[in-house]
Amino acid sequence: MHSPSKKKEQKKILLAYSGGLDTSVAIHWLKEKYGCEVVAVTVDVGQSDDLKEAMRRAKAIGASRAWVIDAKKEFAEEYIAPAIKANALYEGNYPLGTALARPLMAEKLVEMAERLGADAIAHGCTGKGNDQVRFEVSIMALAPEMEILAPARDWNMSRDEEIGYAKEHGIPIPVTCDAPYSIDESIWSRAIECGVLEDAWAEPPESIFEWTKGADRSPDSAEYVEIGFESGLPVSLNGTTMDLLDLIASLNDIAGNHGVGRIDHIENRLVGIKSREVYEAPAAVVLMKAHQDLESMVMPKDMTHYKRTMEQQYADLVYNGLWFSPLCKAMDAFMDSTQQSVTGTIKVKLFKGSAVVVGRESPHSMYSTALATYEKGDEFDHSAAKGFIYVWGLPLKVASLASAAKNGNGVMNEIAVREESSGVCK
Ligand code: ARG
Repeated sequence: MHSPSKKKEQKKILLAYSGGLDTSVAIHWLKEKYGCEVVAVTVDVGQSDDLKEAMRRAKAIGASRAWVIDAKKEFAEEYIAPAIKANALYEGNYPLGTALARPLMAEKLVEMAERLGADAIAHGCTGKGNDQVRFEVSIMALAPEMEILAPARDWNMSRDEEIGYAKEHGIPIPVTCDAPYSIDESIWSRAIECGVLEDAWAEPPESIFEWTKGADRSPDSAEYVEIGFESGLPVSLNGTTMDLLDLIASLNDIAGNHGVGRIDHIENRLVGIKSREVYEAPAAVVLMKAHQDLESMVMPKDMTHYKRTMEQQYADLVYNGLWFSPLCKAMDAFMDSTQQSVTGTIKVKLFKGSAVVVGRESPHSMYSTALATYEKGDEFDHSAAKGFIYVWGLPLKVASLASAAKNGNGVMNEIAVREESSGVCK
């Protein structure tokens, strides 16, 4: 005879909890569907929500535990820093705040799941967005055996039905659930979707903006900021040394006050949908401009051009959830190796929504006044240009002569080529 089997332990699911409607409903739904224990984990990447309140809400709904992990510093230093070095802007515009935060959240969730011995990780993303891909692909890379659940993709409820479900089950939902917009925030950007913004022709109402002032409220005189860079990263603001997190926070305030950092574009999602996205990212916009400008001053031409093509590919990788891919790591190594000389100061003028680089200096500057000047002291050898142009233009000249020959007597005029050549090389 064998002893009665031990009662199976209750399954433990770790839920990436934002405090919003989807993840609040998910706590209840997961418990009901799987009869499991749900642990809520919120990763703080600088969203302005009241995260203590979110923890209380998670427990009130039925989470056995609720944690907030402060990952702001790590977000700045391990995720935003490489993005700055790579000038990472998706489709030339979007500084990737949401896309960079998801792999960090996945990293924290995996750490926590392993520590608590969780059986699965759940997220509240729907089936239409990029974030489901970023969460899941990142978890697959970090914990290949981990089970992943996506309740909001499975339950097939509309937003109204979700609110109905919440009311029916006594789930306290944040008042903001009734707001028409879907907002995602981190220190790097604030993304606003839905509501009237779904009409691609409708101008975003002023009321959606929280980080940036419209032209009517921003100061009537310009403000200058000086950003100091060391090996590709911003290290000081107006002469004061700051760590990256503080520098981003200060610059968000300063540039946002001048209305800098509003982005409104049509974006190609990974899942094939075009969406109208509105962002506020004052610090990101200023830092990317400043960093690129400094690179232009200190990097050789061929490296600058080559890096610009890699930057686009890098932004695509990050956007598409491949942060933990070997390719992304290899690209980081390339970007790092280009940044040694990216040290110097950039002066940016902020005024009524625009940020313009108006001055730059660097100990590694490749800009030479002696070569560039049109005035006295010019050291450029003007006579060398003639031979250079002969060689540079020769393929075009030969092509043109050959094409004339094809249309005419069938023989290329070798004399014309030789004559020109003897004129130059006498
Ligand atoms: N379109 C951006 C991205 O995919 C931002 C998404 C913001 N998410 C949100 N729930 N509002 O990275």
